Amino acid sequence: MKQIIMRPELHKFNTCAQFTEEFGLGEGDLILTNEYIFKPFFGSLGLKVATIFQEKYGAGEPTDVMVDAIIADAAKTNCDRIIAIGGGTVIDIAKVLAVTNGESVDSLYDHVSNLEKKHELIILPTTCGTGSEVTNLSIINRTRAGTKTGLASEQMFANHAVLIPELLNGLPFGVFATSSIDALVHAVESSLSPKATPYTKLFGYKAIEMIITGFQKIVAEGRDCMPALMEDFLIASNYAGLAFGTAGCAAVHAMSYPLGGTYHVAHGESNYAMFTGVLKNYMEIKQDGEIAVMNAYLAGLLGCETDKVYDKLEELLNQLLPKKALHEYGVTEEEIETFTDAVMNTQGRLMANNFVPLDADCVRKIYKELY
Ligand SMILES: [Fe+2]
Repeated sequence: MKQIIMRPELHKFNTCAQFTEEFGLGEGDLILTNEYIFKPFFGSLGLKVATIFQEKYGAGEPTDVMVDAIIADAAKTNCDRIIAIGGGTVIDIAKVLAVTNGESVDSLYDHVSNLEKKHELIILPTTCGTGSEVTNLSIINRTRAGTKTGLASEQMFANHAVLIPELLNGLPFGVFATSSIDALVHAVESSLSPKATPYTKLFGYKAIEMIITGFQKIVAEGRDCMPALMEDFLIASNYAGLAFGTAGCAAVHAMSYPLGGTYHVAHGESNYAMFTGVLKNYMEIKQDGEIAVMNAYLAGLLGCETDKVYDKLEELLNQLLPKKALHEYGVTEEEIETFTDAVMNTQGRLMANNFVPLDADCVRKIYKELY
């Protein structure tokens, strides 16, 4: 059984200047990022690199049309290395750029089993949630094929993942809240997964501790303490990425996709809408095993009895991001059936990692309870 995948070499720097010097950034390098990140952090460093600003190709999640346009412009730069500096969208696109010299998204999906790495890939996350810098999955909305599916290949792992806490300075509070809750969900879901191992749990449980104690500090002391905590949150997100990169995410993510996709709810927020609802239903089915370990661990962190952990956790998280019922997003009662079908028909990869199997009746019940 696979214990843990640790592919990119990990680095951490205090400043962006230290990173560019150590990695010798210059000609032959292409930085894929957003202008609002590049300008303040790299604009004054006088780098002789090519740049592509993702937002010039469209807003929101990566689509085949957006990525093909970026692939074409990247090919014109004749770069050797790709340096991705950004959140989930930028990182997902960069993983694709690493395996193409101009070939389109469709052709990459057609040849997914024998993709080759064409460029060295260096990833610098600028949010503290996805953990995507240490995974090999890229999710592209294939508008032409009418599907949103992941492209994953061994060749899409970064060569280097680089953590620079200062890149998180200026992260809007809402983005901080949704992305760090996403990281917490990665850590919890992967630790409860049947594919969890002592190695993934080492990273998963530590990430849970760092995120919860960080949230408690923010709630107790106010947002002024946040800059000093960004390094912890960035590392915790990376730990959670290492955990779910091997052990996988599960029903919380699976059930959040229909909500996020239909009502354009941020990934971390749609996860939060499902989070404790799924955990409570696991507990109704099975009270021992890893969930008992998890609840005891959460009780210790939250200072409560084990039977109160989900309510206490929600009480804490609500102070960063108030939880909403599904109807508040516009979901209708009839849609519960559509959502349930979507989960059962298209999210098998994630649903296979559930702590206990959940059938359509369970999924429908959870949606109804959260409605
Ligand atoms: Fe996630």
